[in-house]
Amino acid sequence: MALWSGRFEEGPGEFAHYFGASLETDLNMIHEDMAGSAAHARMLAAQGIISQEDADAILEGLEAIHESLHDGTFELDPDVDEDIHMAIERILTERIGEAGARLHTGRSRNDQVALDIRLMAANLAQDIWSALVDIEGVFVQLATEHNEVIMPGYTHLQHAQPLLFSHHMLAYFWMFARDFDRITEAYNQATASPLGAAALAGTSYPIDRTAVAQELGMPDVIPNSLDAVSDRDFLLDLEYACSVGMMHLSRLCEEIILWSSQEFGFISLPDAWSTGSSIMPQKKNPDFAELVRGKTGRVVGDLLGLLVTMKGLPLAYNKDMQECKEGALDAATTFANCLAVMAGMLSDIQLNEDAMQAAAAQGFTAATDVADYLAKKGMPFREAHEVVGKLVLDCEKRGISLEDLTLDDFKAAHDLFEDDILGTLDVHSVVEARTSFGGTSSASVAEQLGLAEARLAQMQSFLE
Ligand code: ARG
Repeated sequence: MALWSGRFEEGPGEFAHYFGASLETDLNMIHEDMAGSAAHARMLAAQGIISQEDADAILEGLEAIHESLHDGTFELDPDVDEDIHMAIERILTERIGEAGARLHTGRSRNDQVALDIRLMAANLAQDIWSALVDIEGVFVQLATEHNEVIMPGYTHLQHAQPLLFSHHMLAYFWMFARDFDRITEAYNQATASPLGAAALAGTSYPIDRTAVAQELGMPDVIPNSLDAVSDRDFLLDLEYACSVGMMHLSRLCEEIILWSSQEFGFISLPDAWSTGSSIMPQKKNPDFAELVRGKTGRVVGDLLGLLVTMKGLPLAYNKDMQECKEGALDAATTFANCLAVMAGMLSDIQLNEDAMQAAAAQGFTAATDVADYLAKKGMPFREAHEVVGKLVLDCEKRGISLEDLTLDDFKAAHDLFEDDILGTLDVHSVVEARTSFGGTSSASVAEQLGLAEARLAQMQSFLE
């Protein structure tokens, strides 16, 4: 019999019961549910709403349920229990009698479920923090260990200008640092307490919402009972943060897939993070990077799904909102798992430094520097661009690179060229010339690495 059966002459049919239930998904927030109940019971006793004996019996009963979760004697009844809130209350009342039946005083499943999901979201955010810190450590490690490796930088996937590989890794470091901030914002939004909103309008009992929030480690109390039970925007924040993070991972995966292809040959993947083919014996496929790229679609789908679920709902609680949990769980666990996969893979990649550096020199990647050379001698940059464009065209026709040009070739293009042009076109000089803050010279990247290390330490301090 459902806990709300009083008003009904018959219960739902078996299929209707199962269709309406959320028990299985709710198992992901069973600890949160019991923590909320314990805090509520303590507050009810402190406020004189229930007796201290009843509160003690409830707390002991909850503790015993906790233990039975571990020793396998937890007695869920999927034929009866619609959700975890009703299951715990039923089990508690069966075990301790009347005191258990007083637990739901001044509370509704509407504020209870909102609380449980908020606590679950906060826990998921913490798991993601730690996965983000791990991958950030790998980017810092790669940037430190390979600080002299030069690779091509691209725009439109065409060679643009040479870069330090460290610089490229640190670009990802900063993206995931912002993801950390987005997850933090989602965490902060989740940790406001809805408990005490009851069904929607508050309660006539003299409850203390602040005490409950404090006991649960929630710094804020949602000031409007209707809002407290109506919105799931904190889950949207979490799913958005996960979606952006997955988009970053997906771009990284795309690069890993390209770099490990025969055409690029920049890296080889660790065996432990590659797979073979059932027919082609030579194959070593970047399956895990592809899978992470693929899972990005799912996480974005979770975000869109919840936005669509919520968009037409009148205040306050509607059963539609029961659909909000799976997507959030899926988005957060998928993101955390994908971060772990990519951290593991990246920490063991092998760089083919020669291939990277050779590629960095191809495609006239010093052309901007040649134009800058003229501009620094007084020629307007737009004019210098034109002169160098013609030089590139000439090289292309002759099948040579800018580095192969003689001083006479340069002089023929413009008499501002002098012999100091010849020593500046190798990839090292081109890289080292970019000394601006955030640029790719080793000095600039070393400075950036220092900032990244400080940021990583700050992120790590969140985990303590
Ligand atoms: N199982 C419900 C959910 O997951 C709990 C809240 C139900 N409240 C209600 N009035 N039907 O959303």
